[in-house]
Amino acid sequence: MRPDPLFTPLKVGALELKHRIIMAPMTRMRSAQPGDNPHALNAEYYGQRASEGGLLITEATDISPQAHGYWATPGVYTPAQIAGWRAVSDAVHAKDGFIFMQIWHVGRISHSSLQPGGALPVAPSAVRPAGNHTNASGQPVAFETPRALEQAELGGIVSDFVAAARNAQEAGFDGVEVHGANGYLLDQFLRNGTNKRTDRYGGSIENRARLLLEVVDGVIAALGAQRVGVRLSPWNRFNDMSDSDGAALWDYVAFELNKRELAYLHVVEPRADFTTDLPLDADAPDAAAQFKSVFTGPLISAGGYVADSARAAVADARADAIAFGRPFISNPDLPERMRIGATLAWHERATFYGGDHRGYTDYAALADAGEARGA
Ligand SMILES: Cc1cc2nc3c(=O)[nH]c(=O)nc-3n(C[C@H](O)[C@H](O)[C@H](O)COP(=O)(O)O)c2cc1C
Repeated sequence: MRPDPLFTPLKVGALELKHRIIMAPMTRMRSAQPGDNPHALNAEYYGQRASEGGLLITEATDISPQAHGYWATPGVYTPAQIAGWRAVSDAVHAKDGFIFMQIWHVGRISHSSLQPGGALPVAPSAVRPAGNHTNASGQPVAFETPRALEQAELGGIVSDFVAAARNAQEAGFDGVEVHGANGYLLDQFLRNGTNKRTDRYGGSIENRARLLLEVVDGVIAALGAQRVGVRLSPWNRFNDMSDSDGAALWDYVAFELNKRELAYLHVVEPRADFTTDLPLDADAPDAAAQFKSVFTGPLISAGGYVADSARAAVADARADAIAFGRPFISNPDLPERMRIGATLAWHERATFYGGDHRGYTDYAALADAGEARGA
């Protein structure tokens, strides 16, 4: 029998993965308050999803108080947060799994009620996102026009990413994923719908990519390239994003990242919109294919995969591994279910963000449900 492409080993930086089913980063807004501290419930959740030789990527984690954009998203900049994350990495390592921490700064996707001192959110330029956000009391509010960052502040943002990466390592993590995707700060710098700067960080593609690359280089200097991944969401319009020449932008970014010998590059396919459960957009560009033509290291693709399409993508070498989001919420033992071809449980959207163990740690594994295991 031909080996299952999802269950062949893969070297990802310093790690030897035993399978290619990766847990995608997912914000769940369940850190302990006050302090945005990861706690025992979070350790239980990640521990449930760990598998031998499998890689999990955490929810996006604040690199600083200013990086914060949603109630109860965790941070990694205080001793209590680092201690909380240690319990998470221990729970994953106890099952011989691996875990990277996704580190982010939300930029303009925040609200003054969530910012230190009630300050305005910051961004490359004072461009307000369309639509509403949720404030610190959980109420819908119109987005505010962010304050454009001074060039002199950007070094501090790079240092915050580097400090967060060191803290993740101190908390026992196997590496970090720099969040350059989904319309948050680094993505806001990349695209010219949000970046209207006229200094070294705006205008040309080289200038717009500068902050991302400075962050990546800083984190690599701290941890080593084999402990660093990067996530991008080319062509994705989530969080009111746009660019006038995506093809050239993504080509340049892929080319530059390729020089850095990262553990991996992770791309979100623009065909999938995780804010709804609508069918995939068949006309969207194929992000993995575009990056595969330039990026020669391990490439992870995410967005709307099921077992068969994941298998086909790996078998055809369109991606080296597949990250699953929603299916991992409702199937803690997703790799095992895919290995034996078991039915997948559907997710409950109402419990994605915030709340307690319900919709978080109470999805059953097959073994818990007493169903038959084995191929
Ligand atoms: C509840 C939820 C929270 C998410 N939070 C993040 C996040 O913190 N960082 C990120 O890069 N992507 C985030 N995503 C996007 C997922 O990582 C993934 O790209 C998306 O869900 C598409 O994959 P899927 O079709 O397998 O769900 C989130 C998705 C969901 C459903």
